[in-house]
Amino acid sequence: MSGASTRLARRGLRPAQVGQTEDMSLAQRVAVRRRAVRLRRTRRVALIALAAGAVLTAEISLISQLVSRGEAAAVVREAAPQSAATPEPIIPVPKIVQVPAADPTCESTETGAALTAKDPAAVFEAFGGAAALREAILAGAAPCVPLDDPALPWVVVNKKRPLEPIDFRPAEIRVPPSSIVQGGLRAEVVDSFERLAAAVAEEAGRIALFSGFRSHGTQVSTYNAQVGARGRQGADALSARPGFSEHQLGLAADVVACGPAGCGTIYQLGDTAQGRWLADNAWRFGWIVRYEHGHTETTGYDPEPWHLRYIGPELAEVYHKGGHHTLEDFFGLPPAPDYD
Ligand code: DAL
Ligand code: ZN
Repeated sequence: MSGASTRLARRGLRPAQVGQTEDMSLAQRVAVRRRAVRLRRTRRVALIALAAGAVLTAEISLISQLVSRGEAAAVVREAAPQSAATPEPIIPVPKIVQVPAADPTCESTETGAALTAKDPAAVFEAFGGAAALREAILAGAAPCVPLDDPALPWVVVNKKRPLEPIDFRPAEIRVPPSSIVQGGLRAEVVDSFERLAAAVAEEAGRIALFSGFRSHGTQVSTYNAQVGARGRQGADALSARPGFSEHQLGLAADVVACGPAGCGTIYQLGDTAQGRWLADNAWRFGWIVRYEHGHTETTGYDPEPWHLRYIGPELAEVYHKGGHHTLEDFFGLPPAPDYD
């Protein structure tokens, strides 16, 4: 075979073809060469396809076996760069979020009108009573009923819940006849305080209103006086910082017991017949003892048997009969032992 024939043979031409090429014209030889190149290419593609098919078949077979043994998930997980301690599932598990049922009461025009008018009795009526309203609040189903509106008697103010606005002042303050020192109260609760004072006078002894409404400015002086006397930590256990006091709402009353010789101090009230009567009966008139013994961790204050807070007779009854001791627990709010 000539050198040209050998080269053609290496390129995939059969011996007969090689023999023929020696007698061919240049154009014929080029055509033969092209056919040979196409043939080789086709063979190569066919071989690659065959090989790929074989590999794929083997993989499918392996995965089928693993799936049947429940190991496929582990194999796929290993391929992903994830924490070995908490592997993610292949298919994300949807999170189940508890969404409170929408309460149609909040959508009603009756409720809207009651809240716009800031009329507690109408709000109770819309919700089916004070107990039902509280339950709706606890269930997160009464988002339209605010617990931070100082115009409403169920507003909750504590070390984590300042007044809004911080310098809030009730529209009208009235001084009840039984007042002896800082005696104003929000106008709409004066009558209920006087009925309370009359009832305790009849059943246990006379009381007087020692400190009622205190403006933001007055609370600055009150708090600073306590800081001067007890230091900041001591003051914080007994006196609210300005903007954080229920006294600024005009809905809090510090009372003292009085006798033939005059009135005692707020610190003496707890040990008097009047103090005990108030602890048991103030709720009947819409008032609660706000800072009871044993609840400092929730309220943030040492016990104050003298500090009464008006929340209205409907809610006060639910509070008393339910055996509650703090407004925070009553409304499912977080404890407020300290300022943020
Ligand atoms: N003594 C209460 C905590 C106040 O200052 O409001
Ligand atoms: Zn007080």
